[in-house]
Amino acid sequence: MTAPLRKTRVAILISGRGSNMISLIEAAKAPDYPAEIVLVLSNRPEAAGLAHAASEGIPARAIDHRDFPDRARFDAALQAELEAARVELVCLAGFMRIFTPGFVEGWAGRMLNIHPSLLPLFRGTHTHRQALDAGVRLHGCTVHYVVPELDAGPIVAQAAVPVRPGDDADGLADRVIVQERRLYPAALALVAGGSARLEDGRVAFDGDVARADGALLSLAV
Ligand code: GRF
Repeated sequence: MTAPLRKTRVAILISGRGSNMISLIEAAKAPDYPAEIVLVLSNRPEAAGLAHAASEGIPARAIDHRDFPDRARFDAALQAELEAARVELVCLAGFMRIFTPGFVEGWAGRMLNIHPSLLPLFRGTHTHRQALDAGVRLHGCTVHYVVPELDAGPIVAQAAVPVRPGDDADGLADRVIVQERRLYPAALALVAGGSARLEDGRVAFDGDVARADGALLSLAV
């Protein structure tokens, strides 16, 4: 008899609709997926993703950042929830709050984010507008480890989409989000399963993965 797979305990942090969260929850239903989603937190009580997570039987809670006098105390409240749920890895999925450096450092190598651009291009917000303004022909999304500097962490996986003549920011966003929902579960599987890890500020991959898995490095034309 084979031993049951040990699943990494993952929390997802959201602020809004949570479509990336849903793709992670769906992926984690597979018996051989190396992570289980044990908690969903939102800094916005009205985030639509909270109700979806709860409907899936996943503990889902709002920690409203407006109830805290400063970032440090908000981060401490998050930390308490993560520890109580024995979370091992955090996935940011449309989470729109900046953390204190101390919180990020405490999760070094154990916190991922998805960002809607091909980093290091177009950090911050309005990435699709930034891409159109820059006139790039390729745009996309990136899964990366979180470091204190915004959108600057070591890169685990990227997917590219073409920028087409006549694209507007919404059209481009629609094409990128399709790739986000595909890329994030693939990247989390690698990290949770131990095939990708942070070493000396870079992402180290196991040999098989380094031969460029199409799920982690792609151009959707
Ligand atoms: C995504 O585009 C993500 O990359 C960005 O915010 C958006 C969140 O969308 N950080 P959703 O809430 O996952 O649908």
